[in-house]
Amino acid sequence: MKKNILITGGAGFIGSHVVRLFVTKYPEYNIYNLDALTYAGNLENLKDIADAPNYTFVKGDITDEIFIPQLFEKHKFDGVVHLAAESHVDRSITDPFAFIRTNIFGTCNLLNAAKNAWKDNMEGKRFYHISTDEVYGALEFDGTFFTEKTKYDPHSPYSASKASSDHFVRAYHDTYGLPTVISNCSNNYGANHFPEKLIPLSINNIKHNRPIPIYGKGENVRDWLYVNDHARAIDIIFHKGKNGETYNIGGNNEWKNIDLIRKLCEIMDRKLGRNAGESAKLITFVKDRAGHDLRYAIDSTKLQTELGWKPSLQFEEGLEKTVDWYLANQEWLDNVTSGQYQSYYEKQYKSRG
Ligand code: NAD
Ligand code: TYD
Repeated sequence: MKKNILITGGAGFIGSHVVRLFVTKYPEYNIYNLDALTYAGNLENLKDIADAPNYTFVKGDITDEIFIPQLFEKHKFDGVVHLAAESHVDRSITDPFAFIRTNIFGTCNLLNAAKNAWKDNMEGKRFYHISTDEVYGALEFDGTFFTEKTKYDPHSPYSASKASSDHFVRAYHDTYGLPTVISNCSNNYGANHFPEKLIPLSINNIKHNRPIPIYGKGENVRDWLYVNDHARAIDIIFHKGKNGETYNIGGNNEWKNIDLIRKLCEIMDRKLGRNAGESAKLITFVKDRAGHDLRYAIDSTKLQTELGWKPSLQFEEGLEKTVDWYLANQEWLDNVTSGQYQSYYEKQYKSRG
């Protein structure tokens, strides 16, 4: 019998890569992509597999207490890969309740539906919760890394909401025996990334000769991972991870924001046929993000040694591929930056001076 797998948030950035991987690699699964299609969800991200016989899109909200249990009842899911979330730190600062609703309450609603649907037999079932390294807080410039044992210390409403959801996942495992697994990943980049996040925002602004807003002095460090490598890690952890365990996923690829943007400007100058140094003139230092975490860096030894995953791409290569994708997909960019998002962006940017 075919297995029924629920993937939440599949119309978003990372979710779309996970859905595509599962639909194409596992014809023996029926993949159900549940997504509320918020500003961050876009079915264009999946148009190449929309007609696949093992793929079904379901529009719905993970916070819906009536609909979610009905969906579990109807499709008898064998597994859940849960990515749906509010994901942007800056939005969490202006609207924390949206993050509390979706990231905490929505996750609990899914956990509860899975617990009730699987209560008579949890054998072979799996609830996989996708989380972030931001739950661990911030590192200094001291060469240390986040491991699976690092104590939680979230600082933004986004990371606090993800930390809370992680705790609920562990509580459902420990209290009810729900077969759960969690992964905490570093910053992703690649195709379909919504252009409010640093890399796609900068690509779009450089292309249109608009200022590139760098928060503070640009000294904050992030550990960047190509999104397809995250999707591969999710595949491996979903199939081989152990119940009750946590796996850190990271690129071992730390960049100061300002150095990353300078590298991006070099690539953009070359791709757009501009003189060297032209795009870098757009770099504009703006007011810092409140509570801005200084440095993130992941130790993914556990995932690499126990489950055999490793990143496949060097950063420069991944960044080139990402720039090529955005330059070839101007229509996608125009569509997602029109309307609702455009007014949000203008407000954000103006408020940063
Ligand atoms: P995204 O914002 O691009 O996509 C989120 C998706 O969830 C969208 O399609 C949206 O429509 C959907 N969604 C939001 N609220 C919903 C709701 N109430 N019900 C149903 N669907 C809803 O996010 P992303 O960057 O792809 O992140 C996916 C997951 O990975 C998140 O859980 C995030 O915390 C985690 N994560 C992201 C990163 C990163 O760098 N982007 C890194 C580590 C972990
Ligand atoms: P972001 O892409 O929002 O991811 P996160 O906050 O989840 O790490 O930001 C990445 C880094 O870039 C972070 O240090 C904040 C910084 N940043 C800017 O300097 N300017 C921007 O316009 C944005 C969106 C982010």
